[in-house]
Amino acid sequence: MIAKYLEVVEDIKEQLANGVLLAGSKLPSVRQLSEQFSCSKNTVIRAYNELEKEHLIFSKPKSGYYVVNNIEQPTTNQQVIDFLSAGPDKSIMPYIEFQHCINQAIDTYKEELFSYSDQQGLYSLRVQLAKYLQDLQVFTEPDRLFVVSGSQQALHLLAAMPFPNGKNNILIEQPTYFGFIESVHLQQATTFGIDLTMEGIDLDRLDYIFRNNDIKFFYTVPRFHNPLGHSYTNDEKRKIVELAEKYDVYIVEDDFLGDLDPNKKADPFFSFNPTGRVIYIKSFSKVFLPGLRVATVVLPTIMTNHFLRYKFSADFNSSVLSQGALDIYLKSGMFNSHIKKIKELYVRKMSVLQEACESLLPTSTNYTKPVSGFYLSVVLPDNVSARQVVHLLKEKNILMDDAARMYLPEFKKDNLIRLSISQVDEPLIYTGIEELALCISSFERKMRYPNPIHLL
Ligand SMILES: Cc1ncc(COP(=O)(O)O)c(C=O)c1O
Repeated sequence: MIAKYLEVVEDIKEQLANGVLLAGSKLPSVRQLSEQFSCSKNTVIRAYNELEKEHLIFSKPKSGYYVVNNIEQPTTNQQVIDFLSAGPDKSIMPYIEFQHCINQAIDTYKEELFSYSDQQGLYSLRVQLAKYLQDLQVFTEPDRLFVVSGSQQALHLLAAMPFPNGKNNILIEQPTYFGFIESVHLQQATTFGIDLTMEGIDLDRLDYIFRNNDIKFFYTVPRFHNPLGHSYTNDEKRKIVELAEKYDVYIVEDDFLGDLDPNKKADPFFSFNPTGRVIYIKSFSKVFLPGLRVATVVLPTIMTNHFLRYKFSADFNSSVLSQGALDIYLKSGMFNSHIKKIKELYVRKMSVLQEACESLLPTSTNYTKPVSGFYLSVVLPDNVSARQVVHLLKEKNILMDDAARMYLPEFKKDNLIRLSISQVDEPLIYTGIEELALCISSFERKMRYPNPIHLL
């Protein structure tokens, strides 16, 4: 038999879920409920204490108990196959473990969490970050680390601020991460592009651009590139760093998915010049929780004062609650076990996606073959438009991304579709690719036989 106080708890939870009790509304008094459930007042108080512990209700002295928030009921939507969203796989986000860290952070840091704080980031977190970066072959000290509100903020500030080389222009792989294109576009920065394929970039071309175009920095996504999935070899990275050194160009390395690399021997650009030529950025959004808005950037000492001024003028400091909780999450070792789990997940999903592409896509269609990460790109046959394919599939609740916005205007292409595996349920990958294949074939048929009379 279920204990009486739990009956009360369940009844109130049901009313919260049904929307009978709304945020802020007053709950019945202890006396009223004890009469309604024919139980003692102590039983009702125990039930209310339980609900308070779960943060569902709160008490106001001399007034009674009130609802914190009503519980959202998940709506049953039509099935969507989502190759578009780029947040991490929701099924594996460590919500419960992280909740402990948030509670622990509030206890540990108390008032520090809710006031203005060190612009560079909590020192204790920077110590943890310096340790964690060693696993990614980034050896540095807490003094060179800055906590930022997502790597997007670091990119935005770096695009805006002057660099020690006194140069003005930014070089970007083509295609690249849309958020950076948007940032340089809004800041009206002068940009140059360099073609990137799964074979890498043309190093002679890079040499030419570095030599002739007053390049402040080269922005690169070194592993599991967004949108291609490309990763550089160590040899390529070493050569690019040498060129950067030769022409006094900085490299901004956005290693957003570095933790997922199954190749233990893959080194970041940073490791080829740890003293300052390479600015290393590590986001926690793809491998952990994007809502935390925490990333870290390793800067050369010569740039730290300037960067602090730009950071201060953007938002003073990044959320200290997020920083405190992440500090505890890293310190406790929970982060390492989480990474182990997700590493396997993304390698598996990526291989399922490639098997599906291999067996279902028409032979006229190419696709990139990353070993892990979030993204794979499909190169459509001539005359099939990515925009039209994406539009048609959307009507069937299959979401994919047209990569046109990931190019600078002079490099724009309409034949690349970006697939993100992070939020697609594994069993639906084949179904989604089957629909993509059908759609491509039907456009190809239309191009071959534009006049329907030929189909008769
Ligand atoms: C390559 C790349 N860099 C940076 C970001 C921004 O990440 P954050 O959430 O850390 O700002 C993204 C987000 O999609 C990304 O794909």
